[in-house]
Amino acid sequence: MKPKSIIKSGIILSISGVIVACASAPNYSGNTDSRWANFKNWTKITENRTSTGDPTGLVSGVHKGRDGYRDVYVNDTGLATIQGTAPYNYPAGTVIVKEQFDDLAAFKAQKPTDLTIMVKLRDSTSPDAKNWGWVAGYNEKLEESNAFCSGCHSVAAQNDFVFTNEDFLKKHH
Ligand code: HEC
Repeated sequence: MKPKSIIKSGIILSISGVIVACASAPNYSGNTDSRWANFKNWTKITENRTSTGDPTGLVSGVHKGRDGYRDVYVNDTGLATIQGTAPYNYPAGTVIVKEQFDDLAAFKAQKPTDLTIMVKLRDSTSPDAKNWGWVAGYNEKLEESNAFCSGCHSVAAQNDFVFTNEDFLKKHH
């Protein structure tokens, strides 16, 4: 190889390295809450039936709106309930994580822009919100009460404040 083409292939290699780095999954690491730190190992209930659009007509600008794609993960504590049938009453210790993607391209690249979490706390923590705690990001702190989150999720009060369950996925994916 002539020196020139060695330089060229060196440049091409480093460019493709950057592309690979950008497209890889986000780095969920750091000193975060053990209740959701390893959520990527949980059951992804949206597997092969990803929901997009705004099936409830509620999200408007929240949760990336109509164009957003979603993945929802649940830990073992809440798995049987979310995959079951109504009435949906989640046991304390249930954690549900929702990854949000701006659009199909971001979804395919698995590059979420946002992450929201619900944690079912002990009884009587926040009875008005069925004892759910709310987290607005992987590295954020849990809030035992958040009127913004619970206000909208109260629309799903009949299903214990959780929209995405087996019935919902059957209907909307
Ligand atoms: C304006 C209404 C609205 C607000 C505000 C809202 N959500 Fe949601 N959320 C929804 C809807 C609707 C879904 C169902 C899936 C979808 O359409 O994206 C959802 C889904 C979720 C899910 C997956 C489980 C489920 O219920 O389907 C989590 C976790 C979640 N939201 C957490 C939060 C947190 C934390 C906040 C506050 C920072 C919040 N949400 C604020 C409407 C809202």
